[in-house]
Amino acid sequence: MKISIFGLGYVGCVGAACLAKLGHTVIGVDVNQKKVRLINEGKPTIIEEGIAELCAEAHAKGLMSATMDVREAVHATDVSFIVVGTPSSKEGHLNLNYIYKVAEQIGAALSDKPANKDGLRHIIAIRSTVLPGTNEKVGEIIAQSSGLVRGKDFTIVSNPEFLREGTSVKDYFNPPLTLVGTDMPEAEAVFREIYKGIEAEFICTDIRVAEMMKYVNNTYHALKIVFGNEVGNICKELNIDSHKVMEIFCKDKQLNISPYYFKPGFAYGGSCLPKDMKALKTLAHDHYVEVPVIEAIGESNELQKRHAVQLIMAQGQRKVGILGLSFKSGTDDLRCSPIVDVVESLLGKGFEIRIYDKNVKVSELTGTNKDFIMAKIPHLQHFVTDDLEAVCRESDVLVVTNKEKEFAELLARYPNKTVVDLVRQWKEVDYEGHYEGLSWGDINTNRTGQETTIAQDFRQTEF
Ligand SMILES: NC(=O)c1ccc[n+]([C@@H]2O[C@H](COP(=O)([O-])OP(=O)(O)OC[C@H]3O[C@@H](n4cnc5c(N)ncnc54)[C@H](O)[C@@H]3O)[C@@H](O)[C@H]2O)c1
Repeated sequence: MKISIFGLGYVGCVGAACLAKLGHTVIGVDVNQKKVRLINEGKPTIIEEGIAELCAEAHAKGLMSATMDVREAVHATDVSFIVVGTPSSKEGHLNLNYIYKVAEQIGAALSDKPANKDGLRHIIAIRSTVLPGTNEKVGEIIAQSSGLVRGKDFTIVSNPEFLREGTSVKDYFNPPLTLVGTDMPEAEAVFREIYKGIEAEFICTDIRVAEMMKYVNNTYHALKIVFGNEVGNICKELNIDSHKVMEIFCKDKQLNISPYYFKPGFAYGGSCLPKDMKALKTLAHDHYVEVPVIEAIGESNELQKRHAVQLIMAQGQRKVGILGLSFKSGTDDLRCSPIVDVVESLLGKGFEIRIYDKNVKVSELTGTNKDFIMAKIPHLQHFVTDDLEAVCRESDVLVVTNKEKEFAELLARYPNKTVVDLVRQWKEVDYEGHYEGLSWGDINTNRTGQETTIAQDFRQTEF
């Protein structure tokens, strides 16, 4: 494959040398004359383990060169990677001016480039870290400066880079995964070919999903570091070896280091998580250890309950049916069930509430379970019924709060309701009524025609 790389900094230089190692012919482009000269001498523009040898090898094989001439690079290649810098402003906004400038230049160069046998003139891949929506904007700029049509003459792929400085060459050949966001099967095929020498899982997904990933990854990495540090600070005060604690923490691959609890959805609750979270927070407080991240967890959880209330209120209908009251399916435990707070709030605002939960028999509630619910909703028996059909029939808004199988048929049986889904009960929705998810938008993949290849087993938040 013939590939041009715009930007010969850390990511561009490593990418150029590694793509040449994979057998591709690479032309680097940069506005910095010195970097262009270095590449043409078979030398790297940066210092990284293994990069000097790779550059020398690529140069000797005639697989890597560089130029400042955009047109020459675009016309001589099938794919252009954009890997220019995307610095932050003081306020944290991303400066995309370099990206837009390159897009404009590539567009101008494309205007008289002949099409290949499939009619496509060029594929552009955004490798720089950019916010969702940039791919679309780059497409508009290229269409404008080339006079060509996206999807017919050219396409833009989002292909974020996951390497780390210091181990970038190793990371390039051993990435956690290869991610390509595209709306064109031809581009997917080209990228499978480009990366066929790399063993990592190849994931092809929606463009905006691909654009979002780098930010979610890096924010989570930062969260891991800060969480580990806060745990360490508490442990130090208690004379506990924090490294032993985190080592054992990481050995739990079922609940700790796993996909579990990572499905966007409703707030957590139940008798353990809220209690134990508070206990650790208070322990830190008692020892004068500041733990802002651990403290923020409970606040964020309360916010999610308020989001649920706002979402239900925003439907503009007064008769609300709550499907599931306990903190998860298969139990009658109402203690710290987040939906109880939502119901309490809606009742206070004058909503007409009907509740169905097959496990909750008001007359049979005992102990702390009964005390909890009676303090929150003293007249619970007036709202709870075991007649699911009656709740669905008599309510305008149906709020699904857990993944009981009996709710799965709801959309087919009641085609004209408003359904508020707090737990992603359905993977896809094709509904005549109105469907709203708590932390996701349109999931009607049939309508958009786009389907992610990532397994979407959205489970309920359970613990
Ligand atoms: N450095 C990392 O570890 C890393 C890892 C993953 C992703 N990223 C992302 O990759 C992108 C590039 O990062 P970097 O560290 O390689 O940046 P960098 O500053 O080292 O390199 C950017 C290069 O782009 C060149 N450039 C600027 N305008 C140009 C133009 N119009 N045409 C051609 N070249 C131009 C610059 O001269 C420079 O050589 C950023 O979005 C960054 O966030 C960086």
